[in-house]
Amino acid sequence: MKKIQLRSGAEVPAIGLGTWKSAPGKVKDAVEIALKAGYQHIDCAAVYQNEKEVGEAFANTFNEDTIKREDVWVTSKLWNTAHKKEDVIPALKQTLSDLQLDYLDLYLMHWPVAFKPDLKGFPESDDDFLSLEEVPIIETWEAMLEAKKQGLVKHVGVSNFSIKKLKDLMSKTDDVPEMNQVELHPYLHQNELLEFCKNNQIALTAYSPLGSSDRTKEMKAENEPSLLDNDVVKKIAEKRDATVAQVLIKWSVERGTAVIPKSTNPGRIKENLASEKIALTQEDHEALKTLDKHFRYVNGKFFETSDGKYSNIYDE
Ligand code: A2P
Repeated sequence: MKKIQLRSGAEVPAIGLGTWKSAPGKVKDAVEIALKAGYQHIDCAAVYQNEKEVGEAFANTFNEDTIKREDVWVTSKLWNTAHKKEDVIPALKQTLSDLQLDYLDLYLMHWPVAFKPDLKGFPESDDDFLSLEEVPIIETWEAMLEAKKQGLVKHVGVSNFSIKKLKDLMSKTDDVPEMNQVELHPYLHQNELLEFCKNNQIALTAYSPLGSSDRTKEMKAENEPSLLDNDVVKKIAEKRDATVAQVLIKWSVERGTAVIPKSTNPGRIKENLASEKIALTQEDHEALKTLDKHFRYVNGKFFETSDGKYSNIYDE
């Protein structure tokens, strides 16, 4: 399997299983099937509310001795309620306990946004947020570095960070994120971010590579374009004797990013991993370039406040 190299020299298997939206009751089997099918990278997060079940899958699989813990790259993410320095390591320890692991390969700051620590669920008013003056990103970052020092995680990074936010953080620390996980697909190429990250040895992971059509109705915009139904992608899939999903996944990998398609369906889990066997041509990439329309399925506006604490999350 192709690997994405981090600044430290560590290698992340390019195709990982996403677990956002993977329902309880389904995610345990999905992770076990994925690991047995050859996935070596599982992407998790505390806010997905399914880490306990993912942990059961890890415990079952790693017990069998054929697949070892150290053969699998496990990522998780710090939720927005735990940005204060004293809250970071306890949140991480909860994730480790849920996942039944001693360490994570990678821990990401999920969003450059802080919520009040006692907030349950998602914010309903401006009062539910802490400003970045109250909890600066560097405070959270330094606590994550401390977690690395303690051996609880091997690598640290961020998610949903713009170039501006990466630059801000880089101006305050010598220990720069090794990874930035962001939305990337043919409707959202993010070429500038790709270039910036390449120049600064920050690897990227592409989320929502298939368009995340299983988001709840509240999360969807009206008349969203579908990636899986796109005629340009369909045509490439036919030519390469592949499925549309495989073309979308391979597009990410050939751009040098890791990619985490989510599925709980056994056939699709295997289909997605098998995309490593197909190859796109220069002509295919040229055709896919024409699809870029800066469209986001995950609209950060749900984290914007009317009091100005947070606005323009993606700095666009
Ligand atoms: P399912 O879990 O039933 O397979 P994303 O990774 O962009 O968030 O997209 C996840 C969505 O895409 C889910 O609805 C998932 O459904 C679906 N999906 C995953 N793999 C495939 C595939 N190979 N073909 C079609 N749909 C897929």
